[in-house]
Amino acid sequence: MKKIEVPLPSKPYNIYAGANLEKLPSMIKKEKLFKNVFCAVDEKVFRLHKERILNVSAQFENFLFFRLKAEENKKNLSSAENIYSKMLKGNFGRDTLVLAIGGGITGDVAGFAAATYMRGVQLVHVPTTLLAAVDSAIGGKTGVNFGGAKNIVGAFYQPEFVFIDEDFLSTLPDAEISAGLGEVLKYALITGGGFYNFIKKNKTAILAREPRAIKKIIFESASVKAGAVAKDEKESGLRKILNLGHTFAHAVEAERNYKIKHGEAVIIGLAAAAYLSKELNLTSERIKEETLNFIRPFSQKIKIDGFDLNKIFRTMFYDKKNRDGELRFVLFSEPGNVLIDVPASAKAIRRALSSALKLFYGGK
Ligand SMILES: NC(=O)c1ccc[n+]([C@@H]2O[C@H](COP(=O)([O-])OP(=O)(O)OC[C@H]3O[C@@H](n4cnc5c(N)ncnc54)[C@H](O)[C@@H]3O)[C@@H](O)[C@H]2O)c1
Repeated sequence: MKKIEVPLPSKPYNIYAGANLEKLPSMIKKEKLFKNVFCAVDEKVFRLHKERILNVSAQFENFLFFRLKAEENKKNLSSAENIYSKMLKGNFGRDTLVLAIGGGITGDVAGFAAATYMRGVQLVHVPTTLLAAVDSAIGGKTGVNFGGAKNIVGAFYQPEFVFIDEDFLSTLPDAEISAGLGEVLKYALITGGGFYNFIKKNKTAILAREPRAIKKIIFESASVKAGAVAKDEKESGLRKILNLGHTFAHAVEAERNYKIKHGEAVIIGLAAAAYLSKELNLTSERIKEETLNFIRPFSQKIKIDGFDLNKIFRTMFYDKKNRDGELRFVLFSEPGNVLIDVPASAKAIRRALSSALKLFYGGK
């Protein structure tokens, strides 16, 4: 097991990667957390890993399960309300530990409930998807969808610790691994160096889901996210580097009516960022091509049929992060050297987007 520190001034905490679920009760004890455990668990994960999860619950006198269907349309206030009701009925007080076992949906809803129940109870994340392990379980963003808008109601709420047991990933469908890889590639482009080279050299092992390779990319990715979060808890500046590729990605997701996985949209967004970096002469043709080659092995299955460039373009200008009307991008001069708040002309954005989309155009 490896420890990654998240040295937040307001609340430092640890991420344990390469951990074993069996050791979770002793970690809760070691960190002196409350023993009244309210466990919000993805029902699919519960079914697939029942014995191991029940072994954890057996170690506590007061342990209650809440099974959650991990669907985006269930990531809402009524799921949070169901959690509050069950906690209240079960006499869970301020001395409660909410244990969230699942992917990003479970973590976001349970995290939000933990942040708001009795003005906040303890929270531990046990991420079971690649995306949750490298992204959503780290950094304290919790929330639900409301009124048709994603993650619009929420709170920054840090967990006591994050416990990553990569064995959960053994039952994850390939598509969910791909969904997490978009973020992993983003982290590698942000840091460059050893992590970037590891992915380049080990693409076959990663795609074959070899445990050693998966553990390594999770450890490295979680470390990048932890570092960025520690520098900027509430996303006011430095953490913006994590948005590499994301302005494009959000607009592509919206244009696809969210029928494309976020991670896939991120991969398209990373390609668009490479093109835009070149359009603005921040990087060279060679580095742009190298970046596209870096992404390519992980994007083979992403195929989009006809796309509406104008719609993507419009969505980008309406993105909630761009209220002042001027689009600013996170771009790079080379892997490991990311630039934030880069303005770009509409013409350059269109050209970059169009070039990137053509890479993924399946031809309908
Ligand atoms: N809080 C943040 O900072 C943050 C960051 C990124 C994304 N998110 C949110 O995360 C959500 C997406 O997260 P996700 O991709 O983990 O999705 P998810 O929670 O929906 O899980 C994806 C699917 O995998 C299943 N699953 C989970 N673990 C499994 C396992 N071990 N074996 C088999 N199946 C398993 C789930 O039941 C679900 O069907 C979105 O709602 C997004 O908004 C939050």
